[in-house]
Amino acid sequence: MKTIAVIGSGQMGNGIAHVFAQSGYNVTLVDVREEALAKAMETIARNMDRQVAKGSLSEADKAASLSRLSTTTELAKGVESADLVVEAATERLDLKLKIFADLDRLCAPACILASNTSSISITQIAAATGRNDRVIGMHFMNPVPVMKLVEVIRGYATSDEVTKIILELSKALGKVPVEVNDYPGFVANRILMPMINESIYTLFEGVAGVSEIDTVMKLGMAHPMGPLQLADFIGLDTCLSILKVLHEGFGNPKYAPCPLLVNMVTAGHLGVKSGSGFYTYTPGVKELVVSPSFSK
Ligand code: CAA
Repeated sequence: MKTIAVIGSGQMGNGIAHVFAQSGYNVTLVDVREEALAKAMETIARNMDRQVAKGSLSEADKAASLSRLSTTTELAKGVESADLVVEAATERLDLKLKIFADLDRLCAPACILASNTSSISITQIAAATGRNDRVIGMHFMNPVPVMKLVEVIRGYATSDEVTKIILELSKALGKVPVEVNDYPGFVANRILMPMINESIYTLFEGVAGVSEIDTVMKLGMAHPMGPLQLADFIGLDTCLSILKVLHEGFGNPKYAPCPLLVNMVTAGHLGVKSGSGFYTYTPGVKELVVSPSFSK
């Protein structure tokens, strides 16, 4: 493994490119929009600056890491010499099926195709290719440079050889891989999303306010963020789409998304990325401000 292509340069894609480049791999970041690539490169440099300021990365290593990163808007060019492709595009099944069919056509036969999907079936994505034994889930957590976990998801047909390579590779990135099987939500989101959904129901039913719910979980359970702040951080649209996958995948009403979450997403209140969710977000302001709709 020397050359990695990362598809999608958003929040997760730029973090994944960052950790691969910092661990010595040559990385090509691919996106359909030039502006998205420019923004991702700025984000990576800024996040590396945080590490330099903390003393966990030297200026020389930062420069070397950045020199291993390149960008392109042409998928064929970006993946032609890749040993591994990590897809981190928008969480839409139709989009992922199209990307994986294209990757299967454009990548070398030995190339491993991984998806960073947070809940879409790896088995279904793999079925869009002619190499379902070489397709696997590599689910990083946000913020990727900070969070240690990689959930490694074996599709129904993923080979032992490919699983072993990806487990070892995750360790080479300084991460801790955990191998899981391919069922709705895998492990991380099967457990996390019902907690977030329940916290939204707790607010919806008037049991407590936004700050109160988050404070209980932060101080009572030692979570670094309360569940409502975490939902904003992940993106309320992402939370809703994962809950829908759980609800449809298991056919169990316990996963039904809270109507308040559905309304907020429909109204475009998506959390940090839209500037408003359970809290409001203003660039440069660190203090948490509860959204006017939820303040007493
Ligand atoms: N790149 C590099 N470093 C970063 C960073 C980034 N993007 N973001 C934060 N950091 C570093 C900071 O420099 C800081 O470093 P030190 O510890 O060395 O000082 C450290 O991370 C903590 O950052 P801050 O001081 O800015 O803020 P904080 O203490 O509030 O921590 C946080 C921020 C790490 C995000 C913390 O709040 C946290 O752990 N939150 C929960 C995150 C979480 O649960 N993530 C999983 C989400 S679910 C998911 O991703 C999967 C899914 O499918 C939905």
